Amino acid sequence: MKKTLALILAACMSLSLVACGGGGDKSNTPPAGGSNAGTSQAGSQQPSSGGETKTVGIAMPTQSLERWNRDGAYLDEQFKAAGYNTIVTYSDNKNEQQVNDIQNMLSQGVDLLVIAAIDGNGLNTVMNDAGAAGIPVIAYDRLIMNDNSTYYVSFDNYTVGKLQGEYVRDALDLDNAAGPFNMEFTAGDPADNNAPFFFNGAMDVIKPYIDSGKVVVPSGQTAFDAVATDQWQTDVALDRAQNVLASFYADGTKLDAWLCSNDSTSMGVTQAVTQDYAGDNAVVITGQDGDVANLRNIKDGKQSMTVYKAVANEAVVTLDLAKAILEGKTADASLISASGWGFDCAYDTESYETTPGHKCPSFLLVPDVVTADNMEEKLVTPGYYKVGADGYLEATNG
Ligand code: BGC
Repeated sequence: MKKTLALILAACMSLSLVACGGGGDKSNTPPAGGSNAGTSQAGSQQPSSGGETKTVGIAMPTQSLERWNRDGAYLDEQFKAAGYNTIVTYSDNKNEQQVNDIQNMLSQGVDLLVIAAIDGNGLNTVMNDAGAAGIPVIAYDRLIMNDNSTYYVSFDNYTVGKLQGEYVRDALDLDNAAGPFNMEFTAGDPADNNAPFFFNGAMDVIKPYIDSGKVVVPSGQTAFDAVATDQWQTDVALDRAQNVLASFYADGTKLDAWLCSNDSTSMGVTQAVTQDYAGDNAVVITGQDGDVANLRNIKDGKQSMTVYKAVANEAVVTLDLAKAILEGKTADASLISASGWGFDCAYDTESYETTPGHKCPSFLLVPDVVTADNMEEKLVTPGYYKVGADGYLEATNG
């Protein structure tokens, strides 16, 4: 408790806040570790105010990518602590399984759904069922391309890519150095609406340098579809990186940077570069999420940066939004000013469309750049990670 308070105070002092200090119980610190295995159905300890306990269905994509375990655990823990029943599912990155899981939640009578979609275009049937039953849906992190998405909670996805592009620009000093520099791109899953946002944010920074000849892409692969990675899989990114290295760099061509949209793809690219790149220069490699294995690579100098998104805060926004919806209160920008959140969040009614012309009101949090130099300040001080006995960062468990 004391630690939590200290962390809240630290957050209040160190961040530029939309609102901090209002609501006593709003922490931006992660909840204690939490189990996250398979499907969990939780009984609540406290009834929600006004009688009957409400149930929230939380559908996460997979446990095979580190971040969704964190999201699932944070959401589960925070909803339970607020007195809700929860049903949590992970669907093994299989769209059909996620459809079934959500269908089951609807038949179990959930009052609200929080869904991180595997395929943003693959949930129409259940989304229409939810809409027909009047069940609100919060599209979590990834937009669901269906107009029954009541709200969207995520980070500013375009800015994630922009931060990656700017990092490469500054690391190579593209504005001043003579160049040319050789660079490659690896993007995310085409089924994930976020993936083009990340890619475009990065490409908008780098493209002028490609156009001017300061940056060269020896593979010629600069279109999203050419560099996308099915299901964000490490192995898929690894295979493509190995092919690119074998085809375009085996003759001794220097590789200066590889812009990767997230940590799972960065992991594959880093492995390929470590094993198969003949040059001895340090290659600038980007990422996103702050996965533990990638933080190790960053500390070891194999990956240059990651864009960190505090998913504990994403869960806080989701909980407060869900409460407002379930209590019939207004859920717009006023939620932010009344929140007492110790972190920045924007209310955006323009950027995200579920179908052409149909905008989804969105709450967007702010991503941050983490490098070897600021890792402890950005991740350990706020309580997201701790330093393990071996000096590398590991998840906090309480
Ligand atoms: C998330 C990223 C994550 C990726 C793969 C995206 O939708 O926003 O944080 O790296 O999915 O799981």
